[in-house]
This record gives sequence, C-alpha cells and structure tokens, in this order.
Amino acid sequence: MGKKKKTKTEINFKTAYELWQERQNIKRLETKTPIDELIGGGIEEGEVVEFYGEYGSGKTQTALTLATRVAGELGEDVVFIDCESTFKPERVVEIAKARGLDPEKTLQKIYLIQPITVEEQMEALDQIPKNVKPKLLVVDGVTTLFREEYVGRGELAERQGLLRRFLRKLLTYVRENKIYGVITNQVYGNPESSPFLPLELRELAVGGHSLYHTIDNRIFIRKAQRGTRIARLVDSSRYPPAERPFMITDKGIEPIEK
Ligand code: GTP
Ligand code: MG
Repeated sequence: MGKKKKTKTEINFKTAYELWQERQNIKRLETKTPIDELIGGGIEEGEVVEFYGEYGSGKTQTALTLATRVAGELGEDVVFIDCESTFKPERVVEIAKARGLDPEKTLQKIYLIQPITVEEQMEALDQIPKNVKPKLLVVDGVTTLFREEYVGRGELAERQGLLRRFLRKLLTYVRENKIYGVITNQVYGNPESSPFLPLELRELAVGGHSLYHTIDNRIFIRKAQRGTRIARLVDSSRYPPAERPFMITDKGIEPIEK
C-alpha cells in the first residue's frame, strides 16, 4: 500500500482488419520452385522455413537453389551457415549458369560461415560483418553439430537447451531484420514407428519440440521413384497440408514436367 503504482504493461489492441491490412504489405520471396505452392506463394519476410528429411533427400540442394536465386537473380546478400562443411561453390556456379545468371557475381554475394563446433555455431550470427546485409539466411544442418557434440542421453537436456537458444537467436535475427530464413535438418527413426504411420511420422526431425514450436513452416522431403523427390508441408498453422514433386537437376531443384 502507499507504494507508487506500477506502470501497467501496454497491450496493443488492433482489429483483425488492421492485422489483415498489415499482412497485405508483407513481402515474400518467390523461390520460383515447387515450394512456393506449398506456402502461399513464397517465404514471408521475417519467417523461417525448415526443410527436413533423410540424407540425400535434397535439403542442401534446395538451400543452394534458394541462395542462387537470391544472390544471383535478386542481387541481394545471402549468409549461408554451413554446419556440415559440405558447401560446394562449383554447384552454385552450375546452378547459376543453367539459370542464365552470372556465376561469379552470384558467388560474391554469398557469405559463407562454416562452424565446426556448437560454440562457433552459437556465435555465427553475431559474427556477420556490419557491411553484410543478408536478405536470405540459410543454416544448413542446423542440428548436426549438436548431435555430434552431445551424444549421451545424459547430455540431452543441455543439447536441447542450447539448440533452443540458437533457434531463438535465429528467429529474432530473421524477424528484426525482416529477412527470409531457411534451415535444414536431418531426421532420426521414430522409436514408436509403425508401418501404418505416414512417412513423415516414421522419421522425425532432430531436435523434436525445440523445433516444432518455433518454426513457421516445416517441409518434409523424401526420395520418390526414379530419382524424384516429394516436398510435403507438415503441420503448418497457416496452410493446408499439401505435397509437390520435384527433381534435382543442373538448375538446382525444379518442378517435374507433366
Ligand atoms: P544430407 O546433407 O546428407 O542429410 O542430405 P541432403 O538432404 O542435404 O541431400 P542433398 O541436397 O545433398 O542431395 C543429394 C542428392 O542431390 C544426391 O543424391 C544427388 O542425387 C543430387 N545432387 C547432388 N549434387 C548434384 C549435382 O551437382 N547435380 C545434380 N543433378 N544432382 C545433384
Ligand atoms: Mg545436406
């Protein structure tokens, strides 16, 4: 009593109409790949999309295609955090050439960070030079180093805590800078799997709930017949479940011609 009243937290009320109007102005990265059709035409500014799937499913190829699109075609900076140290500039050159883009200019706009420890990955976003203004931020193999460094069951809680912290940092960076975020992630066999479960539930993304609750759109990629791939939107709060086939070609990822 008698104490000065604490200032109340200001809560911003707005009508659904105002929110709708704000959302009309949100820009999107039209990736010009079959992914667009799954997520309302492209990746929204301030949004992170996750691609997950087994080895060789096409996660890195998808990330490289988007990086080439943004760096080579839109002429914007890209930051590519390659946690698996598998980045091949030659592949970017190939994709750029096949798309009629200048390969050298494309490469010059892609800033590569290759962390080799969790500590380096945690620091990576803070180390982006001031003169680099990425429009696209890619983290390829977001959980790989965490899996390598925290192996035992006893270390799981610490691993999840750090992973959550990294994801929070990433989301904040993407939201505050109004850029496009892409992460890729491997899967592990669901211990409660059964043949009756759909494939995206038989294989789960590493990181489990740390990821499920923070990522806006999650896309499961699987290998299909004759070298094709299928991208499936899983559990989106905004878009209906859907899937689109694609191929990996000299242009990166491409729709399958009917
Ligand atoms: P992990 O990182 O191992 O989990 O796999 P990933 O999902 O990142 O796989 P990635 O995107 O590297 O896809 C690998 C597949 O892409 C290979 O099986 C090849 O079929 C295909 N691929 C890789 N490089 C090329 C290339 O230069 N040209 C073409 N046409 N296909 C390629
Ligand atoms: Mg990969």
